[in-house]
Amino acid sequence: MSLHLHRSSFGNPAHAGNVLSKEEAYALLNDWVKNERLQLHMRQVAQLMKQWAATREGLGEADQWRWQMAGLLHDADWDQWPELHCKKIIEELEHRQVDPEIIRAIASHGPNHFGVEPQTRMDHMLYAFDELSGLIHAYSLMRPESYTGMELKGVKKRLKEKSFAANVSRDEIADAIQRASLDQDDLIAFIIAHQPHAV
Ligand SMILES: [Fe+2]
Ligand SMILES: [Fe+2]
Repeated sequence: MSLHLHRSSFGNPAHAGNVLSKEEAYALLNDWVKNERLQLHMRQVAQLMKQWAATREGLGEADQWRWQMAGLLHDADWDQWPELHCKKIIEELEHRQVDPEIIRAIASHGPNHFGVEPQTRMDHMLYAFDELSGLIHAYSLMRPESYTGMELKGVKKRLKEKSFAANVSRDEIADAIQRASLDQDDLIAFIIAHQPHAV
């Protein structure tokens, strides 16, 4: 099954700055994603995107929501239409005349799957948070205290242990970190600090 999008341009430049309201975005999430675990993953990535935009990129509220929205909806079609991931959500957001930058970030969240290279900072951070946040969440589930007291070295150990959360691609994590010129330890620490606060 190929999820290759065979496209390189997304949305309409005339719609730059257009966003869904929070109500609209969460309604779409609840409507399309019935799997609670997947919803939580999307909420966690959304929270990470928002916090990164605010604290690391120094962006204001409107931009923080654009980043958050990309995270919140990036896997919206995975639950019900896995064979159309992420074609369906892209077309939905194009139909709703959403900012092309948000659509593009979603389209590039798995360059090896969708054939779209991350370009902007938003693209890169969504790609970087996606798999790594999943691994860290899997680790939290096996710890009695969940995220509380979680340490960097524990996460790094799980990262090296290929049998742990084996479906999480270590190659993609490394690729994303390298493309975004991030420090792996810093990124892990950021996720540990912010991920538990997903709502
Ligand atoms: Fe995805
Ligand atoms: Fe994801």
